[in-house]
Amino acid sequence: MAIDPKFIEELKNKNDIVDVVSRYCSLQPRGGSFWACCPLPGHSERTASFHVNQYGQFYKCFGCGRGGDAITFVMEMESLNYVEAVKLLAEKVNMTLPESFKEERRTSEDYRKKEILLSILRDSARFYVANLRSGRAEAHEAYIKKRGLEKETVTAFGIGASLDYNALPEYLKSKGYSYEDMVEAGVVSAREYDGRTEYSDFEAKRLIFPIISAMGDVIAFGGRVLEKTDFGKYKNTKETSLFVKNKTLYNINQIKKQKAAGPIKEIIMVEGYMDTISLFSAGFRNVVASMGTSLTKEQARLLKRYTENVLICYDGDFAGQAANIRGLEILKAEGLNVKVVSLPDGMDPDDVIRNMGAEGYRKCLDEAMPLIDFKLKIVKDKFFDGSAEGRRRYVAEAIKVISSSPSEAEREELLRNVSRETGITYQSLMRDMEKSPESRENAQEPIRQKTANRIVQAERFVLARALWSSKRPLKDVRSLDGLKFSDGYRVEIASYVRDLLSGGIEIKPSLLYDYMADDGREEAEEVLNLLETPVITEDTDDRFFDDCVRLIKTNALEEKLKELKARADEETDAATRAEVTREIAGTMAEIRKLQK
Ligand code: UTP
Ligand code: MN
Repeated sequence: MAIDPKFIEELKNKNDIVDVVSRYCSLQPRGGSFWACCPLPGHSERTASFHVNQYGQFYKCFGCGRGGDAITFVMEMESLNYVEAVKLLAEKVNMTLPESFKEERRTSEDYRKKEILLSILRDSARFYVANLRSGRAEAHEAYIKKRGLEKETVTAFGIGASLDYNALPEYLKSKGYSYEDMVEAGVVSAREYDGRTEYSDFEAKRLIFPIISAMGDVIAFGGRVLEKTDFGKYKNTKETSLFVKNKTLYNINQIKKQKAAGPIKEIIMVEGYMDTISLFSAGFRNVVASMGTSLTKEQARLLKRYTENVLICYDGDFAGQAANIRGLEILKAEGLNVKVVSLPDGMDPDDVIRNMGAEGYRKCLDEAMPLIDFKLKIVKDKFFDGSAEGRRRYVAEAIKVISSSPSEAEREELLRNVSRETGITYQSLMRDMEKSPESRENAQEPIRQKTANRIVQAERFVLARALWSSKRPLKDVRSLDGLKFSDGYRVEIASYVRDLLSGGIEIKPSLLYDYMADDGREEAEEVLNLLETPVITEDTDDRFFDDCVRLIKTNALEEKLKELKARADEETDAATRAEVTREIAGTMAEIRKLQK
């Protein structure tokens, strides 16, 4: 964490969230907490869905979904970053900022470093933009013209130019940065030459596309060569402490701004920088790029903060590549609705805009296919060639795809389509599907899913109840001991809570926000939201808590049992097998004991 936790704790103690929020809107007490029409920028409403929990010291809007603590509230209301918001709150209650903080608005070494690197990136971005405007970037200007980029677009995306190898490091040096920091920021590369180190612009001579985080900071660059080449057209900043490529989406900064103005129905995901820019300037502003790599869970989660619906629009040759389908499955697994936009062969979104205009692209969007239809189309294109053998292969593959659908109505409809295409009767297709192993597995899927959800909820509840324990102590502070949590963030939260409990320290739920770094805040919020539930706030006995603890423990034992049984099945050595069998009996006994 950036700033001394003790300082933040005192700051929050002195800035009661109810007072802070009351400066911006009038809060009505209702049912033990406070309500108002959401004051957050970009959300206007007539009925109050914004709610403040004084005990937990956090807020949550059930309309726009945003939530947080006193600090994030001020960040949102005043468009400040974390440090600035802390400063403002400190001034309000006459708290003296820690020395180092006051002078340079920084404290810890990490934080100071991060500021320096961000500042280098920001200055580099400005430097590149100035180059492009200097009149000396003729080749870059010609290229921009050739690609049809308007002036406003160039400005909106902060596009710039690198003119040579040395100017950037020299400029940054003149601003007082060290070469080590420039290298660490990823903008300058170092090379040993004749016994000394030479520094040069990492993106030398390229057209520069800044990559900007959701927080609005330049965190990296993509640089394109101007000449025609198919190999290594783009060069991206190497991964740094600020730039982790598989957690980043190009243009997510603009998406964040759009979300502040209202809900985003859907986001178009493309591959490239130029695709994003072309679509954006053609009026499709809800666009991000995965920057060429296959999609990751982190990117899916990042998207999920802004929308539920994703339109994948990759290059025209996309369909044949199985790796891409896996990427789409990742999006689906994170709970996003995925549709696939097909483009004419060999074209990318940028080509479509330039050759067929916004109209033409709109048509492609209108024809976007749900993921399952898309998968069926792929197997059809691949196998269904009119031959008898092709038909058999197609039917077999189609059945696999169709049986993965959790909806019976959908399965039926899709199967009828295949029947129509192939002339095989629906009944016979149905029988084949019921026999397929995928389908049997699928029948169990909803049950598995349900159990998984119950466990997640139980884990969150247990953590929330423990967070509440300063107000209503747990019967036994050791009840969290030995509990295994199924998600990394919840493991972190649990260890935080355990530390406080075992140290006898009073728990302030909202401090969890500071404890959990950026990505973990979402999970923290899920847990904090439960603080509202009556089973936690009302003074009932703790049966529900005990049930949840038991559920988590039982589940862990059942998982263990499954593994043991699998091992027993495979084990050939008699002695080992007897050992495993004993363990199985022991585990079953433990499960029975829990049920009592
Ligand atoms: P593409 O090869 O599809 O390029 O790569 P493009 O976006 O159509 O590029 P233009 O239109 O020729 O300018 C898609 C994306 O993959 C990443 C970039 O983010 C690029 O926009 N990429 C591609 C690289 O990082 N390095 C490369 O060498 C190529
Ligand atoms: Mn392109």
